[in-house]
Amino acid sequence: MNFSEIPKTELHLHLEGAAPPAFIRRLAQEKGVNMDGVFDENGAYVWTTFVEFLATYERACEVLKSPEDFGRLMAAVLQEQASHGVVYTEHFLAPDFCGGGDLVAWKEYLAAMTEAAEASPVEVRFIPTCVRHMGPEQAKITARMSAETAGGLVTGFGMGGDESQFAAADFAYAFDMAREAGLGLTSHAGEVEGADSVLDTLDALRPSRIGHGVRSIEDPALVERLAAEAVVLEVCPGSNISLGVFADLKAHPITALRDSGVIVTVSTDDPPYFHTDMTAEYRGLSEQLGWTQADFDAINQAAMKAAFCDEVTRAKLLATFNGA
Ligand code: ADE
Ligand code: ZN
Repeated sequence: MNFSEIPKTELHLHLEGAAPPAFIRRLAQEKGVNMDGVFDENGAYVWTTFVEFLATYERACEVLKSPEDFGRLMAAVLQEQASHGVVYTEHFLAPDFCGGGDLVAWKEYLAAMTEAAEASPVEVRFIPTCVRHMGPEQAKITARMSAETAGGLVTGFGMGGDESQFAAADFAYAFDMAREAGLGLTSHAGEVEGADSVLDTLDALRPSRIGHGVRSIEDPALVERLAAEAVVLEVCPGSNISLGVFADLKAHPITALRDSGVIVTVSTDDPPYFHTDMTAEYRGLSEQLGWTQADFDAINQAAMKAAFCDEVTRAKLLATFNGA
């Protein structure tokens, strides 16, 4: 199999987290922003724990200052995804980094990112995302901005950040606002925290998709519920291994979850931080877990069925993936 050429759908990718280190360094040089401590001697992002990863991520975002910067980033990331066979993707965007809560500014950032997305051969939708550790009040602002700009490429609303902070229920107001605006919903849970975090998220926020959700494997009743309710997991194996959630791919529960009837999809999360890309993810699943072309077709079909897009786009893309 030529893993880079397999057509792929990628639902879980943070735009800023996908920024190539060289791209961030170039912008930092152009703008004279100090990036000491962000890169190691090989030019890779520096972090060891999950909290350090989030801190380095936010430091790197300091160079992204204007709509034009985000337009350039969108173009660079889409080009990289296309080189790994991605034909449909959804990007988590962080309005907190795009104008800091000002609706007029956010619309300017969105226009620049939309222009870059529309110039790309990859079909893209946007999921503005609140950052959990910034708290429920900030999340409400983000949800309001997402609701105000729903339509066009903005089709979802999500939550990332530090899952150990606050209770899922604290974000119910923000998620309800996004739901009422017709946005698809997804939230990170069961990544660094356990199965209870997924349960709380399902009960309080009622998303159709969960970012990661892999620690659901610790609770057989939850696994049954995910399967029965057809909740879709955005699984990012390389990210989980890099963050030490599982030791390696052989210890990763993606196959067990799938074989229990849970709908799984595959993405990279923040590829340069986790030293991965979609080609590497597929190669690993094939070479280490024995996944076949039929398995890849199945996850891509599942991802397109769960995608936050219109029905014409869904039908067109579903036809790209054979079998299943
Ligand atoms: N933001 C960017 N990547 C993230 C991850 N893997 N978990 C939580 N928040 C994130
Ligand atoms: Zn993520």
